[in-house]
Amino acid sequence: MPALVLLGAQWGDEGKGKATDLLGGSVDYVVRYQGGNNAGHTVVVGDQKYALHLLPSGILSPGCTPVIGNGVVVDPSVLLSELSGLNERGVDTSKLLLSGNAHIITPYNVTVDKVTERFLGKRKIGTTGRGIGPTYADKINRVGIRVQDLYDESILLQKVEAALDVKNQLLTKLYNRRAIAVDQVVEELLAYAEKLRPYVADTVLVLNQALEDDKVVLFEGGQGTLLDIDHGTYPFVTSSNPTAGGACTGAGVGPTKISRVIGILKAYTTRVGAGPFPTELFDEDGEALRRIGGEVGVTTGRDRRCGWFDAVIARYATRVNGLTDFFLTKLDVLTGWEQIPVCVAYEIDGKRVEELPYSQSDFHHAKPIYENLPGWSEDITKAKTFEDLPKNAQDYVKALEEMSGAPISAIGVGPGRDETIQINSFI
Ligand code: GDP
Ligand code: IMO
Ligand code: MG
Repeated sequence: MPALVLLGAQWGDEGKGKATDLLGGSVDYVVRYQGGNNAGHTVVVGDQKYALHLLPSGILSPGCTPVIGNGVVVDPSVLLSELSGLNERGVDTSKLLLSGNAHIITPYNVTVDKVTERFLGKRKIGTTGRGIGPTYADKINRVGIRVQDLYDESILLQKVEAALDVKNQLLTKLYNRRAIAVDQVVEELLAYAEKLRPYVADTVLVLNQALEDDKVVLFEGGQGTLLDIDHGTYPFVTSSNPTAGGACTGAGVGPTKISRVIGILKAYTTRVGAGPFPTELFDEDGEALRRIGGEVGVTTGRDRRCGWFDAVIARYATRVNGLTDFFLTKLDVLTGWEQIPVCVAYEIDGKRVEELPYSQSDFHHAKPIYENLPGWSEDITKAKTFEDLPKNAQDYVKALEEMSGAPISAIGVGPGRDETIQINSFI
């Protein structure tokens, strides 16, 4: 009954796609449990590069069944174009399962996301503009549209009417936009119904039966711990729970079933969008991390903000997710620095603070306290074992492990599947 959760331990883009793909060959199901096409997961297989947004990264492993769970928000046009894009490249996507309870990102949710950000001006969150927040808001407000609603035209019409009643008031009276016609939305959504039908399933039942049959199930998080609506840097967060508990609610699997929780941790830190980021760099080191690490958003093409590793955040991720392991990624990007600063604690209003403050104002004032670790200059991209790494790289990994509170069980030394050092096996 091995059920593993794999999630981002920082602000997203830690390399979850690569890690999931790596495990894909040895698992039976890979399940997305939250988020939507705000995610951008890059997977490199041989000389082929794939950018996945909504589909679980396990889709590239032929033996693996990809599942979109009930906690995900689904833009049908994005899903269908992602599927056909993969089909054109020879990837078989026929095994995909889509929860009938997943909520649909409608065109008006996308519009509301964009106009709200514009309205917020300087105070904007810097969302991906994909309609994520408004779709989850509709879900919680009980005016959302679910995948199953596509198969009952009169229900769909009633639900879209109910949702647009209020939204059209907002759009026309507050945001000075044109009203959105109910019929047009219903027609667009119905056009997706038959194309999606082959994939729609009772995914909760399928996954629980799979676990009973001793199949290996991997839950793949989108975004990251510090973007979690409850545990992240609110309000500069996404509107779902990427943290480990989200896997249970977002897939309908009980917490007693989860055997391992793996935090994907970048060897430095990045963030896209607005919000506090204590170790952010505004100098040539930040530029170099961006350039060498290729830190440009997969979804929006925005430059990622870059900074040194923050152990306070890693410890926090261990705590709120109950992490059993870390997968440290992008260690190769740090090759060439003489000294590598690592944030070990914060200074907040003159006091040393070891743990992430719960107060948002305190976090905004947090100044990193750095320890300098000696760097290395040898190329590490061919390293296959921990012992292949230069001594200073080994010490860097050991220091991070010590500070972060969970064993580092794998290390990424390049974007490819095989550019990985496996220390402890995950399954
Ligand atoms: P995700 O959103 O967590 O799946 O991460 P992204 O795909 O958005 O960003 C991670 C980027 O780092 C991608 O371009 C990956 O191909 C790349 N990557 C992942 N692991 C490694 C690694 O160990 N070394 C290097 N150099 N690149 C990596
Ligand atoms: P992956 O899965 C990094 C950020 C956005 C914004 C905030 C809210 O590739 O790690 P949203 O559109 O979700 O309402 O935006 O969250 N964000 C991400 N940042 N990686 C992601 O996904 C992200 N998904 C959302 O930039 O700051
Ligand atoms: Mg990403």
